Amino acid sequence: MTAPNGQRVLITAGAGGIGRAIAMAFAAAGARVHACDIDAAALDDLRAQTPGVTTSVCDMADRRAVQGMVEEAVAALGGLDVLVNNAGIAGPTASVADMDPDAWDAVLRVNLTGTFTVTQAAIAHLKGSAAGSIIVMSSLAGRFGYPNRSPYATTKWGLIGFTKTLSRELGEFGIRVNAILPGAVNGPRIQRVFEGRASASGRSVAQEEAAALANQSIKRFVDPADIAALAVFLASDAARSISGQMIPIDGDSQSAS
Ligand SMILES: NC(=O)c1ccc[n+]([C@@H]2O[C@H](COP(=O)([O-])OP(=O)(O)OC[C@H]3O[C@@H](n4cnc5c(N)ncnc54)[C@H](O)[C@@H]3O)[C@@H](O)[C@H]2O)c1
Repeated sequence: MTAPNGQRVLITAGAGGIGRAIAMAFAAAGARVHACDIDAAALDDLRAQTPGVTTSVCDMADRRAVQGMVEEAVAALGGLDVLVNNAGIAGPTASVADMDPDAWDAVLRVNLTGTFTVTQAAIAHLKGSAAGSIIVMSSLAGRFGYPNRSPYATTKWGLIGFTKTLSRELGEFGIRVNAILPGAVNGPRIQRVFEGRASASGRSVAQEEAAALANQSIKRFVDPADIAALAVFLASDAARSISGQMIPIDGDSQSAS
């Protein structure tokens, strides 16, 4: 998939995991990429590996920092065509009854309020684009209930409401808004999730992994590069009639646990 040459793309939490795969895919497709992340060293590494990418250190939980970061991104890119709202933290593994209220707040602050803040700051700039596009990273946990992960599931369902509402607000400005809903993705994060589930269930990590795979038609976890390719497609002209949609990429998973 080829991004229009020079397409200007901002990716939140773009230094690691799925965000990094998305940053590299857009850059490889000919886009100009600005990535923000809380991890300065990982951003240094991204810049070293992907010449031309610009970066900002930013905690998505810090409203003022996020607003300043969007201005930095727009200055570095010379405008904005695509916003990829990738940042999202996993939060704790605990039942609602046992949930730490501060942990609940922390997940909402990054996953929901952070996404709102960066999007609100970006809208005026996206309106200046000939083909604006917003991509929101939801999850399989935004389609199903997710026992012991209530703040995460709640935010990922909330992002669907945000996506569908934004799509209707921004369509008249030629800005499309879609959500990607990945299932279990290969990498260290999913290992931590399985470890959390194992300590809650008393089963082994290997048993939790096998149970997750039993739950999907395609018997492997999703490659971050597959999600990145979907993001590049959704931001491209080939997807110009697609907006307000929730697109699962999860090997046909039948539940979130
Ligand atoms: N990995 C999965 O299995 C999976 C599945 C479905 C959805 N998702 C979603 O995809 C997105 C990316 O997930 P991932 O697995 O790549 O994440 P990750 O845990 O690998 O982290 C990616 C990046 O987020 C950065 N980050 C963490 N907290 C931040 C903050 N407060 N401000 C700015 N940056 C911060 C980290 O430094 C890291 O570089 C998230 O929204 C996640 O919910 C992931």
